[in-house]
Amino acid sequence: MKKQKIYFKDIPDKFATWTFIEKALYIKKFYGMRSEVNCNDIISLEHRLDMKKLVEATIKVISKYPPEGWKHKNGNSLGYAGVSLTMNPFFKDDTDPNYQSLGDKNNPHARYSYNDMSFHKNLKNTFFDCTGFRKLTPCAEESDLKPFLTKFKRPLIRSRIAAVIANWHDDRKETGGWHQDEIIFENVRINIPIVTDESFIFEIKGQPQHHLPVGNAYTFESHLLTHRVFPTISNNKQRIHLVLGMSPWFDYDPEEDSLTTNEFYGEMHPLDMVVNGYVHPDIGKKRD
Ligand SMILES: [Fe+2]
Repeated sequence: MKKQKIYFKDIPDKFATWTFIEKALYIKKFYGMRSEVNCNDIISLEHRLDMKKLVEATIKVISKYPPEGWKHKNGNSLGYAGVSLTMNPFFKDDTDPNYQSLGDKNNPHARYSYNDMSFHKNLKNTFFDCTGFRKLTPCAEESDLKPFLTKFKRPLIRSRIAAVIANWHDDRKETGGWHQDEIIFENVRINIPIVTDESFIFEIKGQPQHHLPVGNAYTFESHLLTHRVFPTISNNKQRIHLVLGMSPWFDYDPEEDSLTTNEFYGEMHPLDMVVNGYVHPDIGKKRD
């Protein structure tokens, strides 16, 4: 397939990078692509990650950069907090780059999903411009996570250390928190538990609840499967995960600030790329 290139400078202000790509490349024709893995449940991945090192490095980051609550119009939600691992060098305002990927202060509370963009006139360089997060943050650059983060074979996009803090979590335990992430062809995620407690639950709508223990790495079809995370009890426990988003079908050139379609574009489902080791060399085959 002929390679196609997008320069960030050519994207008009009203578009998020991906909404522009959808228009420019007619990429929606691939959205019906089937995966060879089971897309209906969370996928536990085989890996050769040094989990002890990852845990230590992550804890070191958050001890220096304490997680900040999710930003929205009325303040910050402390129940869901985090630290950004990637940033947009042209972010629309002067938000600390280490916290750019934690919601948007113009957004109504809990309207943060890919389908809540209609509240914003211009999407380029906002929180919703998921692919616009194309550079490591200062806190990631200086951290011991850097060797792991720079080993990804695909460009890291909006990514964070995510913290759910049970005491601060609001009354969403039974009914709230449900959401879908961006389309998987824009953003395929790997989720790695770092610190957790059995009282924290991950749930896909209509399916049994899971606790995700430290030691594992996960991926799933986080666009098609409505999902949520919540603490079952209110206590002082925290759930810290690495939530890493990658652009599966584009290579990023930092010199040109451009994206170019890669060999997987329109050819391989992003989840198949993850399980076959094309996203991170140390994260590979699906576990049963
Ligand atoms: Fe999600």
